[in-house]
Amino acid sequence: MSTHPEARSVRGTAVVTGASSGIGAAYARRLAAGGHGLVLVARRAERLRALAEELTGRHGVPVETVVADLGDARDLDRVARRTAGDDVELLVNNAGINGYGAFAETDAALLEKVLAVNVVALTRLARAAVPGMLARGRGAVVNVASTLAFAGSLPPDPLPSRAVYGGTKGYVVTFSRTLAAELEGAPVRVQVLCPGLTATEFHLTQGKDSVAGDAPRVHDDGGMPADDVVTASLWALETGEVVCVPGLVDGEAVDRIVAAELGLRSSATGTLAPRYQGPARH
Ligand SMILES: NC(=O)c1ccc[n+]([C@@H]2O[C@H](COP(=O)([O-])OP(=O)(O)OC[C@H]3O[C@@H](n4cnc5c(N)ncnc54)[C@H](OP(=O)(O)O)[C@@H]3O)[C@@H](O)[C@H]2O)c1
Repeated sequence: MSTHPEARSVRGTAVVTGASSGIGAAYARRLAAGGHGLVLVARRAERLRALAEELTGRHGVPVETVVADLGDARDLDRVARRTAGDDVELLVNNAGINGYGAFAETDAALLEKVLAVNVVALTRLARAAVPGMLARGRGAVVNVASTLAFAGSLPPDPLPSRAVYGGTKGYVVTFSRTLAAELEGAPVRVQVLCPGLTATEFHLTQGKDSVAGDAPRVHDDGGMPADDVVTASLWALETGEVVCVPGLVDGEAVDRIVAAELGLRSSATGTLAPRYQGPARH
């Protein structure tokens, strides 16, 4: 963990996981420009160190780096302790890996790691952050999901081969929306950010190991610039939008999902639906 003691924060501290590249690094740059102190978390120490130097040099904010593998229980403990700190007013739960591959052929240990990083670590860090934020009467949590949380099972290419990844992002959406509902009226905001294809290093590795080298690289398949994704997220934090989908032109599409969900909930009547009545085939 390294700090730049000469730096000075004008706003509270933001913890950003997965800050060594892509959306997390873009978030770190925007928050530093806005005067936040930062805690940057990822595995690649050199990347974090270079980013910390850039941000303290340019904006004069304090930047700590925490080199940690969020799939490792002891590292996660360490990050959770820092995330529970009194100075933390924003948690960006951004670190994520894809583990893409046909379900039956993908290494089971890799799939467990996808769950550990995308689900367990994200939940643990939110749990570390929220109680203190509530007690201090101020704070926000941004959890990064994906449009694949909604559309992961839909054709055509390049889907499927990402059942576990889609499942973890579905968890992030449901967890975040339900927590936001639980905290409605409380002084802590919860947002779930659902990017579509974004121009980052994400598709250069399954995530078990980092992309090699110190210099960030971007995949060739196009996608939204990471900075635009962050712009949408910061707007949504201002407006209080819970489900933020940066590329979605028709914002009411989210409301239509809610309407469909209400329809589903009306099934909780205690009465078996007619189509299931009669003799079963098995
Ligand atoms: N790019 C897309 O098309 C896209 C679309 C929708 C959603 N997303 C989501 O956006 C988030 C950010 O991804 P990105 O697109 O910015 O990809 P990225 O450039 O690959 O960034 C992923 C970040 O997570 C960190 N990370 C990965 N495994 C980690 C671990 N075990 N412990 C700690 N940090 C770890 C990586 O750092 P180290 O390797 O240094 O640890 C890196 O900083 C992810 O949650 C992803 O699911 C991406």
